[in-house]
Amino acid sequence: MKLEVRNIRKAYGEAVILDDISLSVEGGQSISISGPSGCGKSTLMSIMGLLLQPTSGEVMLDGRDITNLNDSEKSLIRRETFGFVFQSARLVGSSTVLENVLIPAVLSRDKGREKRARELLEQFGLADRMNYYPHQLSFGQTRRVSVARALIMEPKFIFADEPTNDLDAENAAEISDILLSIPKRDGALILTTHDRAFATRAESRYSFVGKGKLTLDK
Ligand SMILES: Nc1ncnc2c1ncn2[C@@H]1O[C@H](COP(=O)(O)OP(=O)(O)OP(=O)(O)O)[C@@H](O)[C@H]1O
Ligand SMILES: [Mg+2]
Repeated sequence: MKLEVRNIRKAYGEAVILDDISLSVEGGQSISISGPSGCGKSTLMSIMGLLLQPTSGEVMLDGRDITNLNDSEKSLIRRETFGFVFQSARLVGSSTVLENVLIPAVLSRDKGREKRARELLEQFGLADRMNYYPHQLSFGQTRRVSVARALIMEPKFIFADEPTNDLDAENAAEISDILLSIPKRDGALILTTHDRAFATRAESRYSFVGKGKLTLDK
């Protein structure tokens, strides 16, 4: 599958945040988006992930213009095709680790995901934490649970907004390895990061330069 943004512009009143941005990403690829705080990385990612409406420009999925779909059509695409790793993990405190990973499956009324949830948690070194509650986890473990939750429905596009920002070096390395292995499993990874080394490991690297302008570094 191919996700593309064309001539995206986002302005809040006089303030232009994104100025004529176009890029595309398809299955098997990873891209990173870097730039200083406040330059528009999360804004661009939110537009690509159908969480925010651009001022103008198009978001295309496999050639279909999905910019102006209604909320329920957009949420269906988000649920079935996209996976999100938020900076703050946003786990549900009253649910176990396993239940948290299965939330997207419950929302999609898909009862056949428990085996995959267990496999992902095992893969991420959480085999003995499945029945823990979020408050019983370390920071790095919490982030790994949120990655497992993002992957549970086998999304074609994973959005990760500064997924390693607040982690120590060891946990950051673990999360970056996990995320960068996603494209090999035929999804695509869209990542924002301040970490140069992490950004460089993505197949294509974009940076914000000047006001609202994005360039392809490699
Ligand atoms: N609702 C809003 N109204 C006005 N301005 C906004 C709004 N949301 C975001 N902005 C502005 O858009 C700009 C880009 O914000 P964004 O969150 O995309 O930055 P970022 O590159 O992700 O920064 P960081 O690295 O700190 O996460 C900021 O200058 C912010 O003030
Ligand atoms: Mg941001």
